[in-house]
Amino acid sequence: MSVSVVVLAAGKGTRMKSDLPKVLHKVLGKSLLAHSLDALSFVNNQYVVVGHESDKVVNSLPPTTKHILQKDQLGTGHAVSTVINSDLFIENKSELTLVIPGDVPAIDSKDIELLISEVKTKSSSVGFLTSIIKNPYGYGRVIRNNEEIRIVEEKDCNDEERKINEINSGIYCFNTDFLIKNIDSLDTKNVQGEFYLTDLIGIANNQKQDIVIVQVDENSIKGINSMSQLNEVEDIMQKKLIENFMKKGVYFQDPATTYIDSEVTISSGAKILANTHLTGKTKIDEECVIGPNAQINDSKIGKNSTVVNSVIDQSTIKENGNIGPFAHIRPGSELGEGVKVGSFAETKNSKIGKGSKVPHLAYVGDAELGENVNFSAGAITVNYDGKEKHKTDIKDRAFIGSDVMLVAPVTIGEESMIGAGSVITKDVPSKALGIERNNQKNVEGYVDRKKKK
Ligand code: UD1
Ligand code: CA
Repeated sequence: MSVSVVVLAAGKGTRMKSDLPKVLHKVLGKSLLAHSLDALSFVNNQYVVVGHESDKVVNSLPPTTKHILQKDQLGTGHAVSTVINSDLFIENKSELTLVIPGDVPAIDSKDIELLISEVKTKSSSVGFLTSIIKNPYGYGRVIRNNEEIRIVEEKDCNDEERKINEINSGIYCFNTDFLIKNIDSLDTKNVQGEFYLTDLIGIANNQKQDIVIVQVDENSIKGINSMSQLNEVEDIMQKKLIENFMKKGVYFQDPATTYIDSEVTISSGAKILANTHLTGKTKIDEECVIGPNAQINDSKIGKNSTVVNSVIDQSTIKENGNIGPFAHIRPGSELGEGVKVGSFAETKNSKIGKGSKVPHLAYVGDAELGENVNFSAGAITVNYDGKEKHKTDIKDRAFIGSDVMLVAPVTIGEESMIGAGSVITKDVPSKALGIERNNQKNVEGYVDRKKKK
């Protein structure tokens, strides 16, 4: 049976108290909407209903995802009816239509697949996911009385109904023909004066249609309406993500202070120490020890590397890298095998060859270092003349002494040495000593003469 999905993302999210459209808020580094769409990636035919700040929401979508504008947001039923009545939907009509809100990022594809298979097996008109939850406040309640099945919204509940703790997930699988036939019979006779999609359950029941209810784990259907729920759901998802890494053999010293985005990959045998933040598309290879206090974004860390108390952004570290403590590896740094960047050293947009060392108090920007270069304490590349950035080229095995300034553009030849304290403005040939320094003067007896005055 063919399936399509309608993702509801037109609402403002008033309860978030934020200017950003609700579905663009992020958990684990990815928007709520992107989480929903990813969980439904097995359905090719996807429609996203946009409305509030639709430009922003549309811009966040992959270019192939279809979107439909719900000009006025008159409720979840109205949102679905906008799609159903569009030419785009009619032209691509499928036998089953899933509907899911854009604010349930923890949803598991397996739950949705189960729902679809139940609806198929029983040839039902509609199925939906529910859960038994300790604090059902804010959700629609599932009323099941003998023959009666319907959903009542929090605001429309009487005291008895409010006590029910089976909640509606907002995730449905409709027989498309049933949906088309009945969507326009919804009305706004409720406290909020909105067209409620939830009323279709009562309508199906009145028509004695078959209705499937699939109960799933409450954690996978928690909706996000407020900042506090955003935090609650992110917490749940973070724990689950870390659990999954542990099952694959990744060690975590302190999950409570570890933050990992959903697109991060970590190989088995890696150790993640306390207070580590791995974000974006970061990739950590086997045997790495990351942390404590590491912050790594959109970067690749090669096998058996260590990163202690350091920040790494949009960079690549090859295997056996040794970073920190207190290093700042800024965007565009490519560190070869066995490179060391130590305390209070910063790199940016630079290639550093195999075995080279920048052990302390240094700045390497817009530079290319060959293999086995030693870049001593206090040495820096002077890459910026106030207007433009220039390149520093340092060949293999060059030895850059302490407190050297390499004023770019400049090339330092292979195996050359640069004397400590030099300001180098001219190229240095291979195997030469480059030195720029005044002769030292010792003034004999100076201290005693000064005391007498
Ligand atoms: C909805 C359900 C409720 C369920 C809960 C689960 C209704 C009437 N209620 O309530 O039973 O327990 O979800 O999380 O359906 N949206 C539109 N257009 C609109 C209105 C909303 O696209 O006109 C979108 C919102 O952007 C959001 C989703 O629909 O992504 C759900 O809307 P929301 O207002 O959050 O519904 P709830 O009150 O949570
Ligand atoms: Ca909601």
